[in-house]
Amino acid sequence: MASVLVTGGAGYIGSHAVLALKDAGHRVSVIDNLVTGFRWAVPEDVTFHEGNVADEALVPRIVAEQGIDAIMHFAGSVVVPESVSDPLKYYRNNTAASRTLIESAVRSGVKHFIFSSTAAVYGIPDHTPVDEETPRMPINPYGTSKLMTEFMLADVAAAHPINYAALRYFNVAGADPAGRTGQSTAGATHLIKVAVEAASGKRSHVSVFGTDYETPDGTGVRDYIHVSDLAAAHVLALAWLEERPDESVTLNCGYNRGFSVLEVLDAVERVSGCRIERRMEPRRAGDPDALVADNAKILDTFRWQPRHGNLDTIVSHALAWEEKLAARV
Ligand SMILES: NC(=O)c1ccc[n+]([C@@H]2O[C@H](COP(=O)([O-])OP(=O)(O)OC[C@H]3O[C@@H](n4cnc5c(N)ncnc54)[C@H](O)[C@@H]3O)[C@@H](O)[C@H]2O)c1
Repeated sequence: MASVLVTGGAGYIGSHAVLALKDAGHRVSVIDNLVTGFRWAVPEDVTFHEGNVADEALVPRIVAEQGIDAIMHFAGSVVVPESVSDPLKYYRNNTAASRTLIESAVRSGVKHFIFSSTAAVYGIPDHTPVDEETPRMPINPYGTSKLMTEFMLADVAAAHPINYAALRYFNVAGADPAGRTGQSTAGATHLIKVAVEAASGKRSHVSVFGTDYETPDGTGVRDYIHVSDLAAAHVLALAWLEERPDESVTLNCGYNRGFSVLEVLDAVERVSGCRIERRMEPRRAGDPDALVADNAKILDTFRWQPRHGNLDTIVSHALAWEEKLAARV
């Protein structure tokens, strides 16, 4: 079993990865500066370090103390429109902080690195589903800040004894089926989270941005991946990297199927039994008609077997978490 440092482990996806690693028997440590994460999202028996991944003293100390074999790097800034208005924040907290973290990893002898990349590296592809060879042409600083980290990892793995998996997530949604964690940050912009907030009475309506896309019902189509299936892919990535110290890999994480905005809202109404007010609004700049993952490579490479891909399942787990969250406040 490995000793794994999870950065951003108090956040949405990172907290699910912590649970998946623990469930698989790995030893887990977390570093998180709690800018958007929550201390309570990290289980009591996981070593927690409040700090920045760019802290050049703290990270090597954790690696030495905990005998860290692998880093899973979720920490970062994640709001696309904010990256457009404040690009330097993204180049600092995603690109520059990752550079320092990778340097700490190399200097302290960490063997494996698993990185949260994004479908935003593809920008607006001219076809869908997109495979990993699709040209990477990000259209916002968020996507560029992530792609730059992918470039760094490729160069570093060629020069030093470390290998990596870059996982390009599509639209992450849902919550731990056992209700142990979920998406908790206020002011969410992701559709399923926004829709379950509306169904739970936390929002008055859901805006539908664009109804004239080239999709069956005119609204944007996305590939929604259950966060626990994604966390499971990270555990598989760790095993893959351990078995192949000289290889690295870049993989899409999605289901190779998409749902439109209206289909998602229908599902939330169906599962919750609540009506959601829909406000039709103009398109937002930079939204592709459809973005769906060609996932043949991850299915083949990791023998990944998604278990929670049903849209109603994703929505019901998100709703259950929303209710738990409401009870907590
Ligand atoms: N949510 C999605 O749909 C999605 C899609 C593609 C990629 N990603 C990537 O997945 C990762 C996790 O995203 P999330 O949705 O869980 O976001 P999140 O905001 O819930 O989690 C990020 C965590 O990192 C912490 N953090 C941020 N900067 C830090 C720093 N410099 N040092 C230490 N901790 C820091 C935050 O406090 C938070 O706990 C991000 O790297 C994001 O770019 C997310």
